[in-house]
Amino acid sequence: MRPLVFAGNWKMHLGPEGARGFLTRYLAGHEPVQGREVWFFAPAVSVAAVAAQVAGRADLRAGIQNVHWEAKGAFTGETSVAMAREAGATATLVGHSERRHVFGETDQETGLKVRAALAGGLIPMLCVGETLAEREAGATLAVVRRQLDVLAGLDAAELGRMRIAYEPVWAIGTGKNATPEDAAEVHGAIRGRLGELGAPADRVSILYGGSVKPDNAAALVAETEIDGVLVGGASLDPESWRAIVRADRD
Ligand code: PGA
Repeated sequence: MRPLVFAGNWKMHLGPEGARGFLTRYLAGHEPVQGREVWFFAPAVSVAAVAAQVAGRADLRAGIQNVHWEAKGAFTGETSVAMAREAGATATLVGHSERRHVFGETDQETGLKVRAALAGGLIPMLCVGETLAEREAGATLAVVRRQLDVLAGLDAAELGRMRIAYEPVWAIGTGKNATPEDAAEVHGAIRGRLGELGAPADRVSILYGGSVKPDNAAALVAETEIDGVLVGGASLDPESWRAIVRADRD
């Protein structure tokens, strides 16, 4: 049985002080639930603060939002996998929509980042998803397949350590959602493609992201194909985050 993963993507919010304050408030009411994990993708400078507060809690995980694929060197502004690990991260987002569409990250780069993360012991959560124009052109599945193709050549053990987040670009930060049924259909296609690539696909968690809120999280995770949610805006408020993490599965 795949665990349900509730992952907050704080984007460029919550420095170390803010992260500590958020977690103090959130953790005061957090109750571990069997089969549920709560992940926090923090800005690089806040990872250590998050890691310190989640230490010793098996259901919680500190993650970073981006890493560089090189181990070290003249890459001003970048963070290596080893540095992220040293700060306490155990997971990283790769290829988030904003990395791709605001910073021009390519499929080739996401492929390098996935490999660097796997080699360095970080769990990569590869984000995929189509733009509105691509959806309207009927290209959703083709785009997602192309974005997953960077996984070709990884072995089954490596693929089994991946997590995938399906985030339609048009749904991120817009208040618009794919319906749970539409999302589940894309998730099914992603799982099928992972299987073709040699992954133990029934063990890989596939999260949905894009304007997930307390009032729609339950319907999303009720779909058996949807193994959790990746949440931006609504992960920044301890109360709405708690409501999402508690979203009922049935
Ligand atoms: P949102 O962001 O929940 O604010 O739409 C999701 C994401 O970008 O991961």
